[in-house]
Amino acid sequence: MLKNMVLLLGFIFLIALIGAYSLVQSGLIPANADAKPGRLETWIAHTSLKATLRREAPKGQNPVAFTDHDLQDGVRLYAQNCAVCHGSAKGNISESPIAKGLYQKPPQLATHGVEDDPDGVTFWKIKHGIRMTGMPSFGISLYDQQIWTLALFLKHMDKLPPSVQKSWQQVQNWPVIYVQKHGP
Ligand code: HEC
Repeated sequence: MLKNMVLLLGFIFLIALIGAYSLVQSGLIPANADAKPGRLETWIAHTSLKATLRREAPKGQNPVAFTDHDLQDGVRLYAQNCAVCHGSAKGNISESPIAKGLYQKPPQLATHGVEDDPDGVTFWKIKHGIRMTGMPSFGISLYDQQIWTLALFLKHMDKLPPSVQKSWQQVQNWPVIYVQKHGP
C-alpha cells in the first residue's frame, strides 16, 4: 500500500517536471523586456529581495561623514555610474532611452527616491545589484567607501546643501545627442 503511494507520488512528480520542462521549451513563458511582468514573477522578486535584505543588509550607520565634500563626491559618482538609468534632478520628466526601455523599470530617483530607506539597505543594493532586473552590482567596480558615499547622497538627495544642489542640477542623464526613432 505504502509502496504504491510512493510510486504514485513519484509518477505525479515526474509528470509535473516534464510539464514544466515542456512549458519552458514551448516559448510560452515570455522572454521579452517590453511587457509587464506577471503577478507571480513580481511577488517572487519582491519577497525574495526583502527577505535577502533582512538577512544581509548592514545594520549600522553610514561610515561616510555628512560633509559637502563627501556629498559632492556622491553626485560625481552618481553622474558617472547611475544617472543613465536613474535619471537627473529632473526625475520622471526626462528619462534616458536606456531607462525607458529597461525591464524592470529603473526608478527615476529624483521623483521616486530612496531617502526613507536605511543607508545599509541602499548600500547592499548598490554593492550586490538586484537579481533579474537591470540593476548591476557595483561591488566589482567601486570600493565600499564609494558605495557608502553614493548611499549618503541618495539618502539626502531631497535636502542637499546649496553648493551640492547646484552640482546635482547640472548632472545629465544622457550626455550624447542621439537620433530619435522615426517612421519607416
Ligand atoms: C543599467 C541600469 C542601471 C544602472 C546603471 C543603475 N541601476 Fe539602480 N536600478 C536599476 C533598476 C532596473 C532597478 C529596479 C530594480 C527593481 O525593480 O527591483 C534599480 C534599483 C535601484 C535601487 C533601489 C530603488 C528602490 O526604490 O528600492 C537603488 C537604490 C539603485 N538602483 C541605486 C543605483 C545606484 C546608486 C547606481 C549607480 C552606482 C545604479 N543604481 C545604477 C537599474 C540601474
